[in-house]
Amino acid sequence: MKQCRGKNLFFTTDCDILGTADIIFVSVNTPTKMYGVGKGRAADLKYIESCARTIAEKCTNGHTIVIEKSTVPVRCSAAIRKILNSYPKPNRSFSILSNPEFLAEGTAIKDLFNPDRVLIGSEQDELGLKSCETVVSLYANWVPRERILTTNLWSSELSKLAANAMLAQRISSVNSLSAVCEATGANVDEVSRAVGADSRLGSKFLKASVGFGGSCFQKDVLNLVYLCESLNLPEVAEYWHQVIKMNDWQRQRFTEKMIKTMFDTVSGKNIALLGFAFKKDTGDTRESSTITIAAQLLEEGAVLKIYDPKVTLAQMKLDLDMACSERTRALIEKNVVYCKSAFEACDGAHAFAVLTEWDEFVSLDYKAIYDKMQKPAFAFDGRLILNNKKLADIGFDVYTIGHSHLKATAKESEFFFNQATA
Ligand code: UGA
Repeated sequence: MKQCRGKNLFFTTDCDILGTADIIFVSVNTPTKMYGVGKGRAADLKYIESCARTIAEKCTNGHTIVIEKSTVPVRCSAAIRKILNSYPKPNRSFSILSNPEFLAEGTAIKDLFNPDRVLIGSEQDELGLKSCETVVSLYANWVPRERILTTNLWSSELSKLAANAMLAQRISSVNSLSAVCEATGANVDEVSRAVGADSRLGSKFLKASVGFGGSCFQKDVLNLVYLCESLNLPEVAEYWHQVIKMNDWQRQRFTEKMIKTMFDTVSGKNIALLGFAFKKDTGDTRESSTITIAAQLLEEGAVLKIYDPKVTLAQMKLDLDMACSERTRALIEKNVVYCKSAFEACDGAHAFAVLTEWDEFVSLDYKAIYDKMQKPAFAFDGRLILNNKKLADIGFDVYTIGHSHLKATAKESEFFFNQATA
C-alpha cells in the first residue's frame, strides 16, 4: 500500500467519486444477522443495500460494472439489480458481477499475488459477458488466464459459500475423528497424514484443533443452512448445520477434558491460555475458540492468565465480556490476568493450554516453564504443535487433541500426581 498510495491508490470517504468509476467493488461487511427474521443464521445485507442505493444515486451516466466482492447469499445480485433499476436514468447502464474473495487471513498478500483461482460470475447477456471480459483482463495482469474461472452469477455466489463450507467440513470431520483417536489409541496426526496422502482428498485442512474460528466459516456455513431452509431443503440444511455443531462440541470437549484431567475442578486454579487470535499471524479474534473456552473456564471459577502476541488487552476484554454470562462477567476483572509473555502467563499456573498455533509456542523453554508451575503441572495442546513426549519427559501431564493421554514420566511429578490422586 505504501508503494502505491498517492500514485494509483487513493482512499476517500467522498461517495461522489463513484460517479467517475468504471468498476466498483462492493466490499462491505455482511455479518450474521443478530435480530429479526433469520437471526443467528442469515447474512445481514443492510450495508450491501446501502451501497447499492448510493451507487444508484451517484452513477448518473455511462456504463458501470458493479462487483459483489463481499460474501453474499445466493441471488443477492438480483436484489442489487432491483435497487439499481429503481432509480432509472436515461444515459446509464449497469452490469452486476460476482467476484468472491478466497484469500485467508495471515497469508492475504501471498494469496492475492498467487491465487489458486479467481472466480468471476456474470449475467449471461451480451453486456454481462463483455463486462466479465473487462474484469478478466484486469486480473490477467498477474494471474495466469487458466486460473481465472468465469461462470454465471448464481454459481459464483454459491461457490464462495460452498468452498468455505467444505473447508469447515473437513476440519469438523477430522475433529470428530480426533475424539475417536483419543478413545482408541489412534493418533490423529497419523490418521490425517494417511488420509491426506490420497491425492483425491489432499493434505490441507486436515489438522485437528480446538475448533475453527474466524469471521467466515461459521458465518458462511450458517448462511448456507439458512439458504437451504429457505429453499425447503431441511435435510441439506441439517447436513451442513452438523459442521457447526461438531465445532461447538469440540470446544466444549476440550474444556471438559481440562476440567476432568485436573481432578474435576478448576475452581480457584491458575490456568495459562496461550493464544487468543483465531489463527496464528493475525490479531483477529472473531469467533476464536479461545473466547468460548475461556468463558467456560471462567464459569467454572478458574483464574485465567492469557497471553497472545498480537491481540490487544482491550480486544480480549471486549470478547470475554460479550461471551460470559452475567454472573461470570462480574468476575472478569478479578479472575482474568493479561500477560506480556507465555512465560509470565505460566508462572505459578496449574496448567497451560495452547489455543492458537503461534510459532513462538513451539520453541518455548518448557523446562523453565515447568519449574515455575504448580505441581502436578498440566499441558493441554489444542493445536497439536508441541512435542508431547518431550513435555512428559520434563514432568508434564500432557493432553493433546486426538492423542493418547501422556502421563508425566519424570519422577518428581509422578510423586505429585500420586499424591494428588491418592
Ligand atoms: C477462510 C478461507 O480459508 C478463505 O479461503 C476464505 O477466503 C476466507 O475464510 C473468507 O471467507 O474470507 P480464514 O478464515 O482467514 O480463511 O482462515 P483459515 O486459514 O481458513 O482458518 C480458519 C480456521 O480454521 C482457523 O481457526 C484455523 O485455525 C482453523 N483450521 C484451519 C483448523 O482448525 N485446521 C486446519 O487444518 C485448518
